[in-house]
Amino acid sequence: MLEDLFLDGLADMYYCEQQLQEALPRMAKAATHHDLHGELEMHLTETERHVEKCERIFEILGAKATSKRCQAILGLIDEAEDLISEHDKSPTINAALILAAQKVEHYEIASYGTLREWAKHLQCEDAANILDEILADEKAADVKLTKLAAQECNAAARTGGGMQMAA
Ligand SMILES: [Fe+2]
Repeated sequence: MLEDLFLDGLADMYYCEQQLQEALPRMAKAATHHDLHGELEMHLTETERHVEKCERIFEILGAKATSKRCQAILGLIDEAEDLISEHDKSPTINAALILAAQKVEHYEIASYGTLREWAKHLQCEDAANILDEILADEKAADVKLTKLAAQECNAAARTGGGMQMAA
């Protein structure tokens, strides 16, 4: 049943947001670019709100808030941790953090986009509206990360990084 699939997907995202609550402070701490640090901290505040919004959707559906272990987000967080240890304090750290953060954003955008369509199909407009709000936050975060990469972090990684492109 689509409702079961929906609740299962929501439990997956509830778990993701909780894991990100723990991972984002470590990512923000590793950022040496002022605006990237600020963006990751702001996304942590949004992530805390996303946890509450997921709980609200469970409530609307009359279900108990449940989190389901998600291998995908654990893999993405592992990758972020590896990038942090490999590029810590290097000029490439900010570009590396943006890569890791954008992978997470795209995973969330894909998941919430599907959940919103299912909520609409189940004629649960209240849940669809909340999912729309979360989706807007994730998309805005992704756009800001692209801007930071294009404006400064990629160039800093290229000119200050150890590995130079062959001429
Ligand atoms: Fe989120």
